[in-house]
Amino acid sequence: MPGDKSIAHRAAMIAALAERSSRIINFPNNADCEGTLSCLAKLGVSIERRDSELLVRGGGVEGLRASSEPLDCRNSGTTMRLLAGILAGQNFKSTLTGDESLRARPMARIIEPLRMMGARISSNDGRAPLVIEGHKPLKAINYELPVASAQVKSCVLLAGLSAEGRTELIESSVTRDHTERMLRWFGVPLEVRDVEGLRTVTVDGPARFKARDVSIPGDISSAAYFIATAALLPGSSLEITNVGVNPTRVTFLEQLRSSGLDVAISDVREECNEPVGTICVSRSRLSPAAGLESAALLRGTLIPQLIDELPLLAVVGSQIEGGIEIRDAAELRAKESDRIATTVENLRAMGATVEEFDDGLRVSGPTQLLGAAIDTQGDHRIAMAFTVAGLIAEGETRIKDGECVAVSFPEFFDLLQSLVER
Ligand code: S3P
Repeated sequence: MPGDKSIAHRAAMIAALAERSSRIINFPNNADCEGTLSCLAKLGVSIERRDSELLVRGGGVEGLRASSEPLDCRNSGTTMRLLAGILAGQNFKSTLTGDESLRARPMARIIEPLRMMGARISSNDGRAPLVIEGHKPLKAINYELPVASAQVKSCVLLAGLSAEGRTELIESSVTRDHTERMLRWFGVPLEVRDVEGLRTVTVDGPARFKARDVSIPGDISSAAYFIATAALLPGSSLEITNVGVNPTRVTFLEQLRSSGLDVAISDVREECNEPVGTICVSRSRLSPAAGLESAALLRGTLIPQLIDELPLLAVVGSQIEGGIEIRDAAELRAKESDRIATTVENLRAMGATVEEFDDGLRVSGPTQLLGAAIDTQGDHRIAMAFTVAGLIAEGETRIKDGECVAVSFPEFFDLLQSLVER
């Protein structure tokens, strides 16, 4: 698998803030990560790229320079929200913008804590473009995350690097922890405590740290489409090596397993503070392990840990005895598309019975899906989830704007083609 997109954004940004040069191996070649690299280059960071290897010449936390142009984060929420945290602590002004989808996504969630820390930020009614007048030093804050979002958490942690004192963040649902792991890898003092279901992360600023080489594990969210395909297509078996198996990212594998699918993780080791392993999957019996007849229910604190896999799980749910119900997932409406609406609409186009809720959906199963025209709304994860649906459907499926997979996974169709026998 190409390198994990979430980890790659963080590796590039944190290496840019480190003193001296870091080598990053298995850096993915997708549009979102390209967006991060081009923003960093506009901020004066020297980055050399040879295939999937980067050399980032960090200039320390003080090393960034104002960009004469707006920073275009394209389709990438991670780029915008994490960079905003870094730019809030600089003594210059920056403008962050993006494509139409990104400019429609909520940014008040980062504006609020960054203002509390002392940055001045103007926006288009809580959306990009964001104009950030940084402040040096920022004020350390204690902040309880109002939304379960790794992007918001990471934004505040990165701002905390340029704050005077201890910044403390509390999350009531655990979200992906790649920023914490990457900061530690670079030697930043950071503490994580779990008390009575609440996770507290603290970082001490101002922080200075040195360059380190990073190897990025394969992207489990990209692997997910192949895992689901192998689990659903008769006669399949698949082994994926060197893939990230961070506990905050593997919940969808656990879900597949409890739906009776044959998925196993083995050979787990740590690389650059991230667990990496091998995932094996083969076509299995597709009935709930516990013999449940009602829909498998996904809700609550599980949701942030499989947020990017939910459209795919809805497709898998259509093949499982009892189907799947997803609740507490209103955040899906604030992604690259309104992923509740796009998933419901496309599953219905393929003949599935689906109920839509404000915070989720219920899909009945098992159902023989029928080939259909899929409207992706330019959303890469919808395009990939419904390609999997198209493979198990009867008849032809056409994915509109299929090239949007390049946002996270340009190799997707070629790799799939090379795996699926005709
Ligand atoms: C990401 C966090 C998630 C996820 C996104 C990547 C990250 O978003 O949906 O694809 O890299 O931190 P939220 O944290 O906003 O839910």
